[in-house]
Amino acid sequence: MAILVTGGAGYIGSHTSVQLLNAGYDIVVIDNLSNSKFSTLQRVREITDRDFTFYQADLLDRETLRNIFSSHRIEAVIHFAGLKSVGESARIPLHYYHNNITGTLNLCEVMQKHGVKKLVFSSSATVYGVPEQVPITEEAALGATNPYGRTKLMLEQILYDLWLSDTEWSIALLRYFNPIGAHPSGKIGEDPRGIPNNLVPYVSQVAAGKLKELSIFGGDYCTPDGTGIRDYIHVMDLADGHLKALDKVLTEAGIEAFNLGTGKGYSVLEVVDAFRKATGKTIPVTYTTRRPGDVDVSIAAPDKAREKLGWVAKRDIGVMCEDAWRWQANNLTD
Ligand code: UD1
Repeated sequence: MAILVTGGAGYIGSHTSVQLLNAGYDIVVIDNLSNSKFSTLQRVREITDRDFTFYQADLLDRETLRNIFSSHRIEAVIHFAGLKSVGESARIPLHYYHNNITGTLNLCEVMQKHGVKKLVFSSSATVYGVPEQVPITEEAALGATNPYGRTKLMLEQILYDLWLSDTEWSIALLRYFNPIGAHPSGKIGEDPRGIPNNLVPYVSQVAAGKLKELSIFGGDYCTPDGTGIRDYIHVMDLADGHLKALDKVLTEAGIEAFNLGTGKGYSVLEVVDAFRKATGKTIPVTYTTRRPGDVDVSIAAPDKAREKLGWVAKRDIGVMCEDAWRWQANNLTD
């Protein structure tokens, strides 16, 4: 029996694949490589000294999906594949809805046809929109503020309806806060195309001398130092959270949402400071206007994941920055 990992060449997918292989699972990876590289999969093999089957294919291609399910005994699916840029989703919403929603519908239809009803779904804290209060619990009001976020929210609702129609399904909806960092080997990490949108990849490229300075998007937020506060979580902790969620879907039916965060918040300035300390690099900063859609504070209440999955994030902000930098420094020529 194998675990199918969709989007397994991507940032979170590749780290979770490493942890699955290390834990002894057999995996089958499907990825269209639209925002990831084939070489990442080779590095997953190097890190784990294990092999797996890879299909370069798209979830929009149902025929290939059917063939994959016919060729392997799939026990459960961890579904990462999807487009994830907030800004891009506002420019090409139809493409986002088509890709993320139709891709997931195809996946679930083929799963259902093959009697595979165990799913760990990659959701996001973005489903909380502008939070009414922090820390954010899973019971908080939902309401995404951009097309990308709405694809995640709609998919959560679709999966809930699927479970209502057939309670044999077992589904974990994992709402990630802000994943950063990289595998400690420095062989895999976040590899954004072009200029990074997210804070830590941007800071890493400033430290590497690829970008001149960090633009801080607003110094007038309702926070102690005026910059936005987020709950940054090490991608390896996030990967471990998927293994715990997998244990749960393998053993009991139902559908539940879980926050995956640390419960601690850091401002942009605190992240820059932690990065400087971890790497000894200078990070010049400048202030600019707020980025539309950004909230003051986003921090998880991670209690449900602790109580029901037996999972807690272990790596601190210093380790997150060290690992992010090791990956960046190793991949300067990429
Ligand atoms: C963003 C996405 C979110 C997605 C998440 C994935 C937006 C509005 N939200 O979250 O939907 O799930 O990434 O990790 O894009 N910042 C700067 N300068 C920069 C980059 C960021 O000051 O060059 C600040 C932001 O204003 C924010 C913090 O750093 O306060 C974190 O930003 P980022 O890493 O982009 O994450 P989010 O916006 O929280």
